[in-house]
Amino acid sequence: MSKKIKVIVAGALGKMGAMAIETFLNNKDKFELKAGVVRNLKEIDNKSLKYYEDRGVTLTDNIETEFHKGDIDVLVELTTPDSVFKNSKLALDNGIRPVIGATGLSDEDILELSKKSLKANTGAIIAPNFAIGAILMMKFAAEAVKYMDRYEIIERHHEAKLDSPSGTAIKTAKLMSDAKVKANQSTFKDQKARGELYYDIPIHSLRLQGYVASQEVVFGGLGQTLTLKHDTIDRSSFMPGILLASEKVMNLDRLIYGLENII
Ligand SMILES: NC(=O)c1ccc[n+]([C@@H]2O[C@H](COP(=O)([O-])OP(=O)(O)OC[C@H]3O[C@@H](n4cnc5c(N)ncnc54)[C@H](OP(=O)(O)O)[C@@H]3O)[C@@H](O)[C@H]2O)c1
Repeated sequence: MSKKIKVIVAGALGKMGAMAIETFLNNKDKFELKAGVVRNLKEIDNKSLKYYEDRGVTLTDNIETEFHKGDIDVLVELTTPDSVFKNSKLALDNGIRPVIGATGLSDEDILELSKKSLKANTGAIIAPNFAIGAILMMKFAAEAVKYMDRYEIIERHHEAKLDSPSGTAIKTAKLMSDAKVKANQSTFKDQKARGELYYDIPIHSLRLQGYVASQEVVFGGLGQTLTLKHDTIDRSSFMPGILLASEKVMNLDRLIYGLENII
């Protein structure tokens, strides 16, 4: 029997983190959940503490101490933009492979993590979207962009989402821009209502009740439009991707940005 992958989940009581913890507990044949990291243990109510205690899950607010125990393979990072970089860097410094789902990393952050991962020969994965359908949407958008002249991205998320645009929208823009060699949308730079340009592609962000995560990439051509659309209706859509990334990262010796590179 191959060794179990020892994981720690940061952001353990968030919407994604709590579901990831249940997912790892349901996949004990491959994974051992070592701990869940919360921001402040003192703020956690007794009911939640008991719930996790009964399931044998250790909750901690000191990720560094957990890392120093030297018994963790993978950090699953599902916190917030203000913590994701620090936690991921700390993981790499301790020889732990980060699987990063939280958004908020800048291009500079990604470059620094990438260099660190390469230098330490330690795998890392940044997954702006863990849902297979969203990854397919990005791939198709990178194909369609070669044939269409105009294109814009509209993303819709629940109103509690802290950042905009979404990591998925930024990654989609990057893939489209890379595929086209040069995007050509910058003519509307001064009109804020036309969206914010990323890699020269306008992104429009909506934050409303009723959405989990949705994105459209709309292409315009002579006398026609093409729309690629993906809807996440439930966060369970992200869980197979989290398991896959946590497994694949064990065999990497550098950072991968986007699950499309490993499926
Ligand atoms: N890659 C993907 O497919 C995907 C899909 C959905 C969401 N996301 C991203 O994943 C992240 C989490 O999403 P969510 O919907 O679960 O958000 P959420 O419900 O707000 O959860 C975030 C959790 O992280 C905790 N946290 C913040 N800083 C922390 C720290 N330093 N240590 C430990 N815990 C910390 C928060 O605690 P407090 O409440 O105490 O601050 C909160 O419980 C977001 O960045 C979101 O954009 C990614």
